[in-house]
Amino acid sequence: MRTRAAVAVQAGKPLEVMEVNLAGPRPGEVLVEIKATGICHTDEFTLSGADPEGLFPAILGHEGAGVVLDIGAGVTSVKPGDHVIPLYTPECRECPSCLSRKTNLCTSIRATQGQGLMPDGTSRFSTLDGDPILHYMGCSTFANHTVLPEIALAKVRPDAPFDKICYIGCGVTTGVGAVIHTAKVEIGATAVVFGLGGIGLNVIQGLRLAGADMIIGVDLNNSKKAWGERFGMTHFVNPAEIGEDIVPYLVNLTKRRGDTIGGADYTFDCTGNVKVMRQALECSHRGWGQSIVIGVAPAGAEISTRPFQLVTGRVWKGTAFGGARGRTDVPKIVDWYMEGKIEIDPMITHLLTLDEINKGFDLMHAGESIRSVVVY
Ligand SMILES: NC(=O)c1ccc[n+]([C@@H]2O[C@H](COP(=O)([O-])OP(=O)(O)OC[C@H]3O[C@@H](n4cnc5c(N)ncnc54)[C@H](O)[C@@H]3O)[C@@H](O)[C@H]2O)c1
Ligand SMILES: [Zn+2]
Ligand SMILES: [Zn+2]
Repeated sequence: MRTRAAVAVQAGKPLEVMEVNLAGPRPGEVLVEIKATGICHTDEFTLSGADPEGLFPAILGHEGAGVVLDIGAGVTSVKPGDHVIPLYTPECRECPSCLSRKTNLCTSIRATQGQGLMPDGTSRFSTLDGDPILHYMGCSTFANHTVLPEIALAKVRPDAPFDKICYIGCGVTTGVGAVIHTAKVEIGATAVVFGLGGIGLNVIQGLRLAGADMIIGVDLNNSKKAWGERFGMTHFVNPAEIGEDIVPYLVNLTKRRGDTIGGADYTFDCTGNVKVMRQALECSHRGWGQSIVIGVAPAGAEISTRPFQLVTGRVWKGTAFGGARGRTDVPKIVDWYMEGKIEIDPMITHLLTLDEINKGFDLMHAGESIRSVVVY
């Protein structure tokens, strides 16, 4: 069939909206009509050329929602008409990683996914001249129609709006999941969130959901104060305005109920800046503080701290896709949204058509959007 897609032809160039060919689903694969897709920082990272593993030409996008149109042989878990969210972290329930129950990082199709190919080593997309176009993160939601492996689809309830739940395909699950699945924050905890963008705000609402007492947001941009408060932040700190080092400042701020040591129970980096990652670790509580790295650092960047920080009980952890097992956990997060436990609507600041998709990247660069969503 033919479909319309925004193609990343070359690193550093705007996406080109064009008609492309899409071959039908092979065994174990599913054809999905994408109804809406968010534009995430990771798409920008790849498009800019900064991602050393970025491949071109490709159809980017990994934060979508849509409807199953057709299924290949052997597919049993979804059928035409089902509403689905594509998963860049699939869940096969059979590989050693899935069976370990210790990680959400399913490894069953990792090698081909990283090469921009379907599990059989080929692409379903091509130009009208017949030249192959690569898939991206196993999703390619910047196409109106796409083909995915069955194990990379979460079936969700049909009454949830596509233009909101697409955000659960990455940003919401990453932020909320980091709190619920990775940190396992308990009621009454103290927390610091560095970077109040599309990820950090979802960490904040995850902390509110988990019942944290003190939710401190840290950002260099004062306009983020109102955004954080909107989702449950209790204190805002702009490191450029406090007149002292951020780490002792936060350690002092978190002294409470006779605790003279200070430090937060949980801290989260949502900036991707390795200096901030160090600050986040070091302002977590001596003896038990956990610091969760969510931000993706530039290629080649390294983190550092004094080992004594870990000897004295702090824990440094990372999380991908919020530790969520996609087919199991994503439908639950959609339910939480529909039940009003988490919010998405105010974070979708811009709705665009596919033809306007490059504007979404401009808004991101200008810091004017939390999330731009393309509606097909
Ligand atoms: N681990 C995962 O699975 C996963 C998934 C999606 C995104 N990410 C990563 O999460 C990070 C955040 O993404 P986003 O979309 O929220 O980005 P964003 O640009 O919308 O937000 C980043 C925020 O950090 C603030 N900031 C920048 N430098 C700072 C500093 N030194 N101190 C305090 N605040 C600072 C900015 O003002 C901005 O508000 C990115 O690195 C992204 O690649 C990770
Ligand atoms: Zn993303
Ligand atoms: Zn698996």
